[in-house]
Amino acid sequence: MSEAETIQWFPGHMTRTKRKIEQSLKLVDVVAEIVDARLPLSSQNPDLDKIILNKPRIIILNKCDMADKKATNMWLEYYKSIGKLAIAVDCKSGRGLEKFIPCVKSLLKEKIESAKKKGIINKNIKVMVVGIPNVGKSSFINKMAKGARAKTEDRPGVTRGNQWFTIGQNFDLLDTPGVLWPKFEDKLVGEKLAFCGSVKDEILDTEHLAIRLLDFLKKDFGGNINIRYKLEKVKDELADLSGLDLLKLIGKKRGMLISGGEIDTERAAIMVLDEFRSAKLGSITLENPPKSK
Ligand code: G4P
Repeated sequence: MSEAETIQWFPGHMTRTKRKIEQSLKLVDVVAEIVDARLPLSSQNPDLDKIILNKPRIIILNKCDMADKKATNMWLEYYKSIGKLAIAVDCKSGRGLEKFIPCVKSLLKEKIESAKKKGIINKNIKVMVVGIPNVGKSSFINKMAKGARAKTEDRPGVTRGNQWFTIGQNFDLLDTPGVLWPKFEDKLVGEKLAFCGSVKDEILDTEHLAIRLLDFLKKDFGGNINIRYKLEKVKDELADLSGLDLLKLIGKKRGMLISGGEIDTERAAIMVLDEFRSAKLGSITLENPPKSK
């Protein structure tokens, strides 16, 4: 992946986004940061801590239907160990979303109590949803708002076009006020996002990406590849194969040939990426949490 490619992925509106989020922070009580449960590190925004400072935050590990259950639990444990509140959800089916409002309320317990003392029984709670592209922000908002239309708010001095959604009594969500970016200067971060389909394929070399994916997977998930494509290789044999060899083997197994009996590696690459992204290779999490101290 060339440097030019990585930069193209996320055209820099960074300063503008940062400013918009900072302005909108004043309007909310909590920030809900959505990440992809298959790669919680690579799908986070590296500067979010600096932008939201000490605003209470809930981390939403989305797409947990496609992630490894054990790994997701490890992530939840990890966040707990560092004092961060996190929940695992699947915005496709809606699984886990029932935890969201109670968790936000638990984050704001003191604020709610102190409002009660002042006679405000149902304190209004406002949450801003943020996350890099494709982590499922719209899916999350749609599921939580159950199709309710956005209310736009154009008050002077407030970010124009803020979109609010009511998701419960006195509970509003603010749609992300700008495009956040991943740590795109890190090649592996970009590649992992691309493996998961979070980066448009048109600007990437499909074959190269599939080869990198197979190279990456063969270490810890060789068994998944073996089973899916009936390769009948033992672990060490797989480890000795290059990503390209593996792609060719898979193409051959699936009968993807072009004239002259050559293997159609382009077709095989599209299939491998497609099958990985639809979890046909199994529920795979690409990153484990850092070791807690
Ligand atoms: P964004 O606003 O953060 O950019 O993300 P968005 O909600 O558009 O979701 C990006 C893709 O991820 C969508 O798929 C969406 O359906 C899918 N997605 C979101 N949450 C989940 C989840 O929990 N599980 C699974 N399996 N997929 C999820 P798409 O292919 O772009 O569109 P479509 O399939 O909805 O047509």
